[in-house]
Amino acid sequence: MDEARETLMYESEGAWREVDAYFVDTLVPEDPALIGARESGQRTTMPQAEVAPNQGKLLAMLCQIAGATRVLEFGTLAGYSTVWLARAVGVEGRVTSLELEEHNAAIARVNLDRAGVADRVDVLVGPAAETAQRLIEDGTEPYDFVFIDADKPSNPAYLKASLALTRPGSVIVIDNVVRNGGVTDPGSPDDRVQGVRAVLAEIARDARLDATALQTVGSKGWDGFTVVRRTG
Ligand code: DHB
Ligand code: MG
Repeated sequence: MDEARETLMYESEGAWREVDAYFVDTLVPEDPALIGARESGQRTTMPQAEVAPNQGKLLAMLCQIAGATRVLEFGTLAGYSTVWLARAVGVEGRVTSLELEEHNAAIARVNLDRAGVADRVDVLVGPAAETAQRLIEDGTEPYDFVFIDADKPSNPAYLKASLALTRPGSVIVIDNVVRNGGVTDPGSPDDRVQGVRAVLAEIARDARLDATALQTVGSKGWDGFTVVRRTG
């Protein structure tokens, strides 16, 4: 990032945080279980990578708007978004969340239990592409909603697996597609940028998928996500 852009970001970030705090205070109450899940993110292998509260609530609302009862998540960490998703699907719903690290999964399970949703969530530990392949081979019932929020270089593999695990009408959300603006650079040496660009290109190529992407500013800095609707 050039120096002028970096200065602008630095000066803007305080205001973005204040506005997010106001929105969250006004519209997105967190109970102690959500606060605990968010704070325990600090003890995972990727501190502060969880979604912001207002994004967590957006995920929950998208699930509800879509009528989703079966949710698949790539990347659990401490289970902050998992709690939002599990609450959104209700007592009859199921969430399957894929996590690489047993250390993170153990933290998540405590948080899910405290949130009262442990009985409707499976946290499956291991490389997510391998776990997803097992779900495919097991003939798992299609998921209605998928949240892809794990290692970014694997985004194309996670989309491919998601297409084998969803149905027309399913919704797929992919987190962190801005990469501090790096997403516009076709020659980026950053394999996370390349993972995002590759998955967006794949979405654009796939006639079964309709999509948009939004950049966001707020408590997580400059970020963004893609929303994909499977039409066929
Ligand atoms: C990163 C990953 C995330 O899922 C996130 O929400 C924030 C940052 C990262 O790879 O840096
Ligand atoms: Mg993320």
